[in-house]
Amino acid sequence: MKLLITGSSGMLGYALRDAFSKDASCNIAGMDLTPTKCGKKPSSFVKCDVTNYDKLTAAVKKIKPDTIIHAAAFTDVDGCELDPDKAETANGLGTRHIAEIARECNATLVYISTDFVFDGRKRVPYAEDDTPNPINVYGRSKLDGERFIKEIMKEKSYFIIRTSWIFGPGGKNFVDTIIKNAQNAKNLKVVSDQFGSPTYTLDLASAVKRLLEIAAQRRISRGVYHITNNDDCSWYKLAQKTLEYYRIYDVELIPIVSDELDRPAERPRMSVLDNNRYIKLSGKPLRNWNRALEDYILLKRRGKDV
Ligand SMILES: NC(=O)c1ccc[n+]([C@@H]2O[C@H](COP(=O)([O-])OP(=O)(O)OC[C@H]3O[C@@H](n4cnc5c(N)ncnc54)[C@H](OP(=O)(O)O)[C@@H]3O)[C@@H](O)[C@H]2O)c1
Repeated sequence: MKLLITGSSGMLGYALRDAFSKDASCNIAGMDLTPTKCGKKPSSFVKCDVTNYDKLTAAVKKIKPDTIIHAAAFTDVDGCELDPDKAETANGLGTRHIAEIARECNATLVYISTDFVFDGRKRVPYAEDDTPNPINVYGRSKLDGERFIKEIMKEKSYFIIRTSWIFGPGGKNFVDTIIKNAQNAKNLKVVSDQFGSPTYTLDLASAVKRLLEIAAQRRISRGVYHITNNDDCSWYKLAQKTLEYYRIYDVELIPIVSDELDRPAERPRMSVLDNNRYIKLSGKPLRNWNRALEDYILLKRRGKDV
């Protein structure tokens, strides 16, 4: 496989490099705004902004990928709210460029999307065919990316993978923030009225690899899949388990409601994703998020998280 990973220096990029480099026949080209400082290095790297169509076209034509995993995005949810043009350019237009180039190269395209395409008003987990209705700029820009992919790739091979609440080595995430803030505080306030499924990047990257392998075997050309670790919780519960597994016992967690935070972007209250389509395809769910979190924290305690 000749694989191009966009956003290769980001948190999920780290895990994708790790998962696909286990396959000796896979040649990985990375693309990002800056080269990675940690994890497995890709076989080649090109510094490229996906919003620059000409540079992107030239770079991809040189790489000649048969598969592209598009993980690059402007992921700062509040930052997107404050700069909607940047969000739409990076996440909407950038994805449109990637889709146009993937179609031209006849490459299979995997687009990493988000639970934030949903409004969070549902009481039960969201299925792939539920109607998206994003409530913030980030969600709208990522949904625009999904629409460009469906429109441009049409009869070509593409997969849209929605995931949620990711944590793992090599990037900024909630688990790291809780541990860092707990070092200098007696108490921490954490939102207890938003629910989702925490997802370990290393588990997600392996699932993406598995999905591509099964799709190739069974000649499945396209589809939307929800992939997260199993089970769900609130941010408060995730913080509680983070401190417990990291063995921090002297910090009090105070549950608060979302409105108390007064952040620029509204968040969906319940964005748990139903994984049944992926489970049916692969034969099993990803493990419970608690077990994945334990593994990640073990990695951190051993100082091997970057
Ligand atoms: N984090 C989550 O909880 C979550 C949940 C659901 C879905 N997702 C999706 O999963 C994917 C990976 O997320 P992540 O958490 O790994 O994000 P990340 O750590 O922020 O990685 C994204 C990478 O893309 C790069 N990038 C940004 N704009 C770019 C552009 N115009 N051209 C090229 N590269 C660009 C970023 O560079 P800079 O850092 O220099 O900007 C960064 O290295 C994203 O598509 C995101 O929407 C994330």
